[in-house]
Amino acid sequence: MVWLGWWYVILVAAAAAVSGGGKMMVAGANVSYDGRSLLIDGQRKLLFSGSIHYPRSTPDMWPSLIAKAKEGGLDAIQTYVFWNLHEPQPGQYDFTGRNDIVSFIKQVQQQGLYVSLRIGPFIEAEWGYGGLPFWLHDVPGIVFRTNNDPFKLHMQNFTTTIVNMMKAENLFASQGGPIILTQIENEYQNIERAFHEEGTLYLNWTAQMAVDQNTGEPWMMCKQDDAPDPVINTCNGMRCDETWNGPNSPNKPSIWTENWTSFFQPYGEDVVMRSAQDLAFHTTMFILKLNGSFVNYYMYHGGTNFGRTPASFMITGYYDQAPLDEYGLTRQPKYGHLKDLHAALRLCSQTLLYGNLTIEDLGEYQDAYVYEGNSGECVAFLVNNGSRESIQVVFRNTSYTLPSKSISILPDCKTVFFNTAMVNAQVNTRSYQPIIRFDSPQKWEVFSEPIPQFDQTSLRSDTLAEQMNTTKDASDYLWYTMSMQLNSSGGEYMLKVNSLGHVLHAYVNGVLVGSAHGARKAPNFTFENTTSFSTGINNISILSIMVGLPVIVKDSGPYLERRSAGLHEVLVQESNFTSFPWGYQVGLLAEKLSIYTDEGSSNASWSQYVNPSTLAWYKTNFDTPDGTEPLALNLGSMGKGEVWINGQSIGRYWVSFKTPEGSPSQTWYNVPRSFLRPTGNLLVLFEEEYANPLNISLDTVSIDKVLIDKLTLRKINRRSRR
Ligand SMILES: *[C@@H]1O[C@H](CO)[C@@H](O)[C@H](O)[C@H]1NC(C)=O
Ligand SMILES: *[C@@H]1O[C@H](CO)[C@@H](O)[C@H](O)[C@H]1NC(C)=O
Ligand SMILES: *[C@@H]1O[C@H](CO)[C@@H](O)[C@H](O)[C@H]1NC(C)=O
Ligand SMILES: *[C@@H]1O[C@H](CO)[C@@H](O)[C@H](O)[C@H]1NC(C)=O
Ligand SMILES: *[C@@H]1O[C@H](CO)[C@@H](O)[C@H](O)[C@H]1NC(C)=O
Ligand SMILES: *[C@@H]1O[C@H](CO)[C@@H](O)[C@H](O)[C@H]1NC(C)=O
Ligand SMILES: *[C@@H]1O[C@H](CO)[C@@H](O)[C@H](O)[C@H]1NC(C)=O
Ligand SMILES: *[C@@H]1O[C@H](CO)[C@@H](O)[C@H](O)[C@H]1NC(C)=O
Ligand SMILES: *[C@@H]1O[C@H](CO)[C@@H](O)[C@H](O)[C@H]1NC(C)=O
Ligand SMILES: *[C@@H]1O[C@H](CO)[C@@H](O)[C@H](O)[C@H]1NC(C)=O
Ligand SMILES: *[C@@H]1O[C@H](CO)[C@@H](O)[C@H](O)[C@H]1NC(C)=O
Ligand SMILES: *[C@@H]1O[C@H](CO)[C@@H](O)[C@H](O)[C@H]1NC(C)=O
Repeated sequence: MVWLGWWYVILVAAAAAVSGGGKMMVAGANVSYDGRSLLIDGQRKLLFSGSIHYPRSTPDMWPSLIAKAKEGGLDAIQTYVFWNLHEPQPGQYDFTGRNDIVSFIKQVQQQGLYVSLRIGPFIEAEWGYGGLPFWLHDVPGIVFRTNNDPFKLHMQNFTTTIVNMMKAENLFASQGGPIILTQIENEYQNIERAFHEEGTLYLNWTAQMAVDQNTGEPWMMCKQDDAPDPVINTCNGMRCDETWNGPNSPNKPSIWTENWTSFFQPYGEDVVMRSAQDLAFHTTMFILKLNGSFVNYYMYHGGTNFGRTPASFMITGYYDQAPLDEYGLTRQPKYGHLKDLHAALRLCSQTLLYGNLTIEDLGEYQDAYVYEGNSGECVAFLVNNGSRESIQVVFRNTSYTLPSKSISILPDCKTVFFNTAMVNAQVNTRSYQPIIRFDSPQKWEVFSEPIPQFDQTSLRSDTLAEQMNTTKDASDYLWYTMSMQLNSSGGEYMLKVNSLGHVLHAYVNGVLVGSAHGARKAPNFTFENTTSFSTGINNISILSIMVGLPVIVKDSGPYLERRSAGLHEVLVQESNFTSFPWGYQVGLLAEKLSIYTDEGSSNASWSQYVNPSTLAWYKTNFDTPDGTEPLALNLGSMGKGEVWINGQSIGRYWVSFKTPEGSPSQTWYNVPRSFLRPTGNLLVLFEEEYANPLNISLDTVSIDKVLIDKLTLRKINRRSRR
């Protein structure tokens, strides 16, 4: 561990400071910055950080996730603060269980790491409404994220609540705590432009409001080139070394708040892979080209979007391709390669941060970045930015081979300690082992969700209502019903529906006419089909479904509070029923009965399972398998719906929405062991389509180390460079 040097001493000191017991007063650290890096007690720091979002895992997983992050060479954990979890109703707070942010931060502190806290309170994060509580939608006169008094009032109130909570627990570095850097707002730049001067007024107000919180340490704004002093502007992206202009003042350090380890995944889109080598190349290049001194991996552990939390069309697993996968298992070689990179850079950090840089030209696409200290220390980075093939370069009379798109790190200006394209870390694969098969029809029971008709509804309007304004996000589901008189003789007629999103199932006189859905990039869609109508009264019932509240891509931007979803136009043949008496049912009957809880389930009248049907609730029981391995449900045989275990939702699933390659976006769904009891666990699914629960299994998840020979390793390294 010699290479850890002075760095190691500081971490040990930090760990010692907190292990002394709760009441002990700890001297605060002075966190500031100069043009090179953050300064902690006046010392420059090269910091590696990784995002782990506390509500995307269970509290029992936190200690091991943090420990693995530390083992992987990180100095800090970064997390957002999730306003809508903490204040579900105005003034009603929840900081329990997965929402226990103080406990999470204290556990990071106990393991001797720093914290970077991104309060937002708008956070994006592929999280429904970007973390804003839905009740803000109904605050009179509100316009989100601009110079609007109602918004500013609530946003300041929540920011202050969180800051005060951190202060009360002595969690800021100035108080002896682990938090060294705090973020206000999030990727605001494009929104600012949309609001013109009002946007700038809000930006300036936001920065001042944050600074006035007196946390005793720096604030940052990501993707905000004009962040007002003293707030630090930072970069988010895959290649900040190529895409970013750097800090907006020579006195501010270069910070990469989101170095994307892969990408979020929506239903129906392919997985984005990012190789360990590409990640390593651009991290190092950022440090060299932009004087980078703080790199955060987004995500280091993605985790699980439990319940109905994710934004529109986002799958339940989050950044499963991160160095720690959804279950917290190490993903190799990404985890190990970054660990090796951190070790190499740490060897160089003193000279990097305090030495003088000269850049030597070694060839058309090759440069040497050489940092020299005043006592003869020397570190060198030999960069090959050419993408064709390996090349020989001569640096200080020695010849070096540089693979394409790679950087060799020479902590003494002579010996290559690490090359970003050469993976030496282990490779592993993940496998699932079915432990319980739910293949016996006798073990399943069914509850059919009734299809409501217009005359059974009490909520009415004279035109099609906007969905979110009607459900208030109490459910994904909204029934639109109407009753029409057909004076001509019955027969085949065309039902046409325009929806602003996201999914619908249409019924005429209780018979399914068909289904349709949008996608992340185009949530709106048109449904058309012909079906039989009878002479006289016909009942049309359309179940409109949202797959998460809006926030990203098409949905990102100003006026989030004005976004619309649900039915927008309904025609039967040429007749327009858009402005017509409509009746609504918010949510499903079984949701009202809480049928997925022990109590609700025992009060419902279930029937024996016979055949798959649509809009069906399925329930069964199982005992917890022995062992400690992570567990997951294989829902490969299912269509679309949501799953609960012992009353807790483990998330939505949508196996039938295939990627362009024809596979489900997600087949396995994380079942945290902490949701289970030893025997008689209650498993409930709501399935919208015809799908087969008899092929569901509960699997253990494990990783198998693949010990690879030199030849295979060379192949992996070669493949990654293409
Ligand atoms: C904190 O450190 C900075 C930079 O070294 C220095 O300018 C500042 O005076 C220090 N502040 C306190 C309160 O010690
Ligand atoms: C936030 O608003 C609530 C009322 O909804 C009030 O009780 C509380 O004191 C406010 N908190 C802050 C920090 O302003
Ligand atoms: C915002 O603050 C900047 C200084 O950071 C100032 O130059 C600018 O005029 C302010 N803009 C508005 C609209 O107040
Ligand atoms: C992003 O992370 C990778 C992996 O550590 C690293 O190689 C790359 O240089 C980082 N990019 C930046 C700009 O820090
Ligand atoms: C990086 O630091 C060098 C030396 O201090 C300076 O010349 C250069 O402008 C800095 N680059 C950026 C992007 O800040
Ligand atoms: C860097 O260069 C400056 C000016 O040439 C010099 O004053 C300083 O001592 C040098 N620093 C180191 C660490 O070599
Ligand atoms: C490396 O090459 C890419 C194009 O392949 C270019 O966009 C980037 O700016 C280059 N980086 C440096 C540091 O020259
Ligand atoms: C490289 O070799 C040349 C000629 O042999 C010699 O003059 C020079 O000092 C050497 N440079 C280094 C850095 O060793
Ligand atoms: C929301 O519903 C209320 C009445 O329930 C209505 O007054 C308001 O205009 C609706 N707002 C939107 C955005 O549809
Ligand atoms: C339209 O109805 C036919 C026959 O009932 C059915 O096979 C088809 O899937 C339906 N189309 C849509 C878009 O739902
Ligand atoms: C969806 O909305 C966009 C933008 O309003 C529009 O151009 C497009 O035609 C709509 N698509 C459907 C299928 O309605
Ligand atoms: C149906 O009615 C709505 C509102 O009444 C109108 O906006 C829409 O254009 C009409 N559609 C057709 C095809 O006439």
